[in-house]
Amino acid sequence: MRNHLPRILITTGPTREYFDPTRFLSNPSSGKMGWLLAQEAKAQGCPVKLIHGPLAFKVSDIPSISVTSALEMFKAVKKNFKDCDILIMSAAVCDYRPQNTNQQKIKKSASQNKILHLVPNPDILKWAGEHKENQLLVGFAAETENIIQNAQKKLIQKNLNIIIANEVGTDRAGFESEYIKFSLLEHNDTIIPIKRWRKSKLAQFLIQLILKKFHAH
Ligand code: PMT
Repeated sequence: MRNHLPRILITTGPTREYFDPTRFLSNPSSGKMGWLLAQEAKAQGCPVKLIHGPLAFKVSDIPSISVTSALEMFKAVKKNFKDCDILIMSAAVCDYRPQNTNQQKIKKSASQNKILHLVPNPDILKWAGEHKENQLLVGFAAETENIIQNAQKKLIQKNLNIIIANEVGTDRAGFESEYIKFSLLEHNDTIIPIKRWRKSKLAQFLIQLILKKFHAH
């Protein structure tokens, strides 16, 4: 039975994968979900550290590390992982990055098509699943179809304790929205079947759930 409050490491926001100084690959993540989780964890008295990609809002009153690319996020997670009890990854990490990054802006030529060669980024959460000692791992699966099945696979492949299977690509929930349409899965159980909640409500519920699990360890 652990009676101290867990140190919680949270990632949030998109990553940006530049292919020249003025252009990048990214996604519409606003960082809201992870920010709400960090606020709730802090409100519960937990030591919190936030690793975030580029955000449209200022992160204050929470120790935070600002990164741009998936490789930088990976470095920051690896550096802080051993000092956390719980890792929650709500960041939308780009799975690929350009093979080459041009030093100068690529000049457009109307006549020619361009080809962008991509290489895989490291799977940060999978790395954490392979290196966890007593940490609790919580992931978010962004899916557009077969939501539960795809999330279940990630729960197992990444050796997670909990995964939030959330539907993205609709305007009613997901990226940038105040709402999230999700199921919460633990090992082989669907704890919460598909719901559409405000992200603030899920943040409260999830922090309470992981605090209960942490203290029950
Ligand atoms: O930021 P908001 O605008 O509030 O939107 C919230 C959200 C939709 C971004 C969030 O709810 C969400 O779904 N986050 C996860 C997005 C994502 O990358 O999902 P995924 O299924 O591609 O990745 C699965 C898990 O592995 C995630 O926890 C992700 O952080 C992690 N991952 C993914 C790729 C990678 N290379 N390394 C990782 O660690």
